[in-house]
Amino acid sequence: MTTHDASASGTFKIGGDLEVNRLGFGAMRITGKGIWGEPADGAKAKATLARLPELGVNLIDTADSYGPYVSEDLIREVLHPYKGLVIATKGGLTRHGPDVWVPVGRPEYLRQCVLMSLRRLGVERIDLWQLHRIDAKVPRDEQFGVIRDMQNEGLIRHVGLSEVNVEEIEAAASFFKVATVQNLYNLGNRKSEAVLDYAEKHGIGFIPWYPLAAGELAKEGSVLSKIAQKLGATTGQVAIAWLLKRSPVMLPIPGTGDPGHLEENVKGAALNLSQDDFEALEHAVKTPNTP
Ligand SMILES: NC(=O)c1ccc[n+]([C@@H]2O[C@H](COP(=O)([O-])OP(=O)(O)OC[C@H]3O[C@@H](n4cnc5c(N)ncnc54)[C@H](OP(=O)(O)O)[C@@H]3O)[C@@H](O)[C@H]2O)c1
Repeated sequence: MTTHDASASGTFKIGGDLEVNRLGFGAMRITGKGIWGEPADGAKAKATLARLPELGVNLIDTADSYGPYVSEDLIREVLHPYKGLVIATKGGLTRHGPDVWVPVGRPEYLRQCVLMSLRRLGVERIDLWQLHRIDAKVPRDEQFGVIRDMQNEGLIRHVGLSEVNVEEIEAAASFFKVATVQNLYNLGNRKSEAVLDYAEKHGIGFIPWYPLAAGELAKEGSVLSKIAQKLGATTGQVAIAWLLKRSPVMLPIPGTGDPGHLEENVKGAALNLSQDDFEALEHAVKTPNTP
């Protein structure tokens, strides 16, 4: 019996009908260095995945390019048939080595991404498929068009986008309902505030990636560390709690390949930040990134 559970973060309905606990999990860190190949400690990576349902984490973010394939393969090995879990994957980025990511948005390739993720994950339909990047070399309407087709064919339930601005979300929305947006966002980097506000207004789930990178803010003596100390929490837990309080459409997906870190992160879901602490953190983030 666990005393902490991701359900403390509240729930959100992806696409209006797929309910998840708001605190999810990012499965990029269960691969090798540079997000390339097998994880250094496979047993630890699998133990982390196995712990997710027990901790009430039912939104799991992955991508075909994590490994590549390693993350999806491990998810299937450990969690199939995913009872009560939403596996959100992505496609549209090719891999040419550790830390090298190259977008390919040709419609025939995006279709292959979806068909192969279906096979690897062992499902007939992907609950949430996200276009990892819009490929600037390919007309975006061709990319959106094939995604719409695949949704109509029943291969994809809900569609998400990643690293997009409001104009791009609106362009995509004329092809399909945009259920989620996944952009870089955390206490220390809030360049996507306008996208977050737009998502909140339109009931679109906002999935902040790199949620724990509080950077300078997490240093000893900083506002973040002072509040963490006062609450008997870690700075990472306060960063997660701040994100959850920032918006009801916020779906943080902290990533780890360590079961101990996972436990620690899930405890952040239950951390109650006062309005004063929330505002103190908000004001501390007067970085050049803040609009
Ligand atoms: N859409 C995109 O373009 C995009 C880009 C990047 C990431 N993502 C997604 O977003 C997820 C989250 O991003 P992220 O993994 O880059 O960043 P993150 O969640 O902010 O941080 C992950 C890093 O923090 C460490 N960590 C996690 N919990 C910790 C804890 N309690 N104590 C100490 N260290 C801890 C992890 O190492 P350990 O493994 O050692 O815990 C890992 O190095 C990814 O997993 C992926 O699903 C999406």
